Amino acid sequence: MTSHPMLSVCDLGKSFRGLRAVNAVTFDVPKGAIVGLIGPNGAGKTTTFNLIAGAFPPSDGKVTLDGHDVTGLGQAEICRAGVGRTFQIVKPFAGLSVEENVMVGGLRYDDGDVETARARANDILRLLELGDKARQPAQALTLPDRKRLEVARALATRPKLLLLDEVMAGLRPVECDRMVAILQGLNKETGLTILLIEHVMRAVMALSDHVVVLHHGEKIAEGTPAEVTSHPKVLECYLGEEHE
Ligand SMILES: Nc1ncnc2c1ncn2[C@@H]1O[C@H](COP(=O)(O)OP(=O)(O)OP(=O)(O)O)[C@@H](O)[C@H]1O
Ligand SMILES: [Mg+2]
Repeated sequence: MTSHPMLSVCDLGKSFRGLRAVNAVTFDVPKGAIVGLIGPNGAGKTTTFNLIAGAFPPSDGKVTLDGHDVTGLGQAEICRAGVGRTFQIVKPFAGLSVEENVMVGGLRYDDGDVETARARANDILRLLELGDKARQPAQALTLPDRKRLEVARALATRPKLLLLDEVMAGLRPVECDRMVAILQGLNKETGLTILLIEHVMRAVMALSDHVVVLHHGEKIAEGTPAEVTSHPKVLECYLGEEHE
């Protein structure tokens, strides 16, 4: 019986030369859950992801993954420990095919065996509804396809926790709903735990069991989607500023 959450961040903080980008942020992501991380531009969401994923060490606080303290570990170690991530700016390897883009992430796990990596990459591409585009050059993909390729690349590292940074951004509602359905399927069928940063509220509301709200680097609210959207501090930070 393991009762610890998949991810715990505790009093997490990051300063960039005097700018407090993340300040004393504490929250848990339970195993198998989908948790949303929202907040206005510059709230510290991507910085929080970078701290969890080991892009740089926190100035303060602790990150615990599946019961293990991973604070201060580098990106490769945290990836190996089970954290996969997408980037806010999608950046596939332009010279490679869709399939090769996914294989690159998986090769290390398939003992360098190219055919095993290829087969696995194609399994993942089918999950992301990109199976018929495997041999196309990555740069030929449309934005919705590139967004799904980004998720496929993150899955190739075999994460137990998937961090998604604005994978719905720029998608039309129909493509957004498609991504929501795919992510729900992944979560239900594989038990994958997901922490997602998202500005597209219909997606956050549809997907999240629990939502954490950041503003100016601090957690100002958390709860169910319904709780946070009616929380006075959340309404103020989204609506209030433009009336100040
Ligand atoms: N590497 C960095 N060096 C210096 N400042 C940074 C760095 N990364 C982020 N910041 C600053 O930290 C603050 C939080 O940025 P962050 O990217 O985490 O916000 P965000 O919530 O992801 O915003 P958005 O919704 O616009 O993506 C901003 O003021 C940003 O300019
Ligand atoms: Mg961001």
